[in-house]
Amino acid sequence: MDGMNALNDAVVRPRSPSNTTPEAFGLSYDDGVAARTRAAYERVKSVIPAEEWPRHAPFIDAINRLKAEKNAVILAHNYMTPEIFHCIGDFMGDSLALAREAARTDADLIVQAGVHFMAETAKILSPEKTVLIPDLEAGCSLAASITAADIRLIKERYPGAPVVTYVNTSAEVKAESDVTCTSSNARQVVEWAAQEWGSDTVILLPDEFLARNVASQTPIRIITWHGRCEVHERFSAEDIRELRDANPGVSVLAHPECPPDVLAEADFAGSTSAMANYAKESGAKKVVLITECSMSDNVAVENPGVDFIRPCNLCPHMKRITLAGVYEALLHNRHEVEVDPGIAERARAAMQRMLDLPPAAAPAQFDVKAPQRDVVVL
Ligand code: 13P
Ligand code: SF4
Repeated sequence: MDGMNALNDAVVRPRSPSNTTPEAFGLSYDDGVAARTRAAYERVKSVIPAEEWPRHAPFIDAINRLKAEKNAVILAHNYMTPEIFHCIGDFMGDSLALAREAARTDADLIVQAGVHFMAETAKILSPEKTVLIPDLEAGCSLAASITAADIRLIKERYPGAPVVTYVNTSAEVKAESDVTCTSSNARQVVEWAAQEWGSDTVILLPDEFLARNVASQTPIRIITWHGRCEVHERFSAEDIRELRDANPGVSVLAHPECPPDVLAEADFAGSTSAMANYAKESGAKKVVLITECSMSDNVAVENPGVDFIRPCNLCPHMKRITLAGVYEALLHNRHEVEVDPGIAERARAAMQRMLDLPPAAAPAQFDVKAPQRDVVVL
């Protein structure tokens, strides 16, 4: 406990965003830190060079102490860097898995190591808990693509068609929606909503590519929005063909936020966790993950026998979350994520409909050979 008090007293603010060494926060790498973080380093040594560890270990040690002191949990998305994902995360996974954990944790404090919509999701599902995000600017191009007013106009235009909203949206947008979905369960939610509302048409937004990829998996007519993930929209079918030529025998795994012609060139498509499961269980010896860069590092740690080819795109929003940021968030209880209670109640109803659906044994996979179908893009 003495060590803990010393840690709390040693509050030193970095002078500039780049000044994020442990020393700038009054932390240092010594024999005690090295011993307490040895097991963590053993986990990640295949992806973090030994000379980098003294920069990470003091933060990891301090964060783990603060978590215990504050009864806090860290929800870490699959796109976090490995020193966050494998060394301080308590629950790791895709958006759906993290939402489920947010709903059931008995911790007092949740730190979201992910982007803002994920932190809002945690607050919506656990309104009595304090939810922190290390960087308020950690946004998402999909969440930024649509507003609650847009949804109200769409509902006026298509009365009777249920609105299924991707979780990558603001609380206000979720509040206007009938039910949410993630890339793990989009087809299941769309088909459930069509049946429940007695409609052959479902509005699935805001991601045009996710909607197009879901449309090829179901006979339901899909109306969507022109939102794009700035990370996944940059992959092309030509990239995949070049990868295959350069790496014979490689298994190509793609996220369903990629364009449909990318999925058509892939061997497998699914949520971030679906891709991680496939890499683990398929027996593939050489794999490329067509998604955000940190995924390959995180999955490689757990699959030492698999060769990961690593072209990837960085998500600038996810990369705003750093060990230094998580440390400061826990130390100062910042930045607290609040959602207006009225909005949260309506958003929770949409999320709860999704969470009440029978959980699948594993995140759904997309049939990459299914023919593409037309969708209406608003
Ligand atoms: P997952 O739900 O597959 O984790 O995706 C979240 C995300 O932001 C992908 O870009
Ligand atoms: Fe949003 Fe794309 Fe980043 Fe995921 S990867 S958080 S969808 S911008």
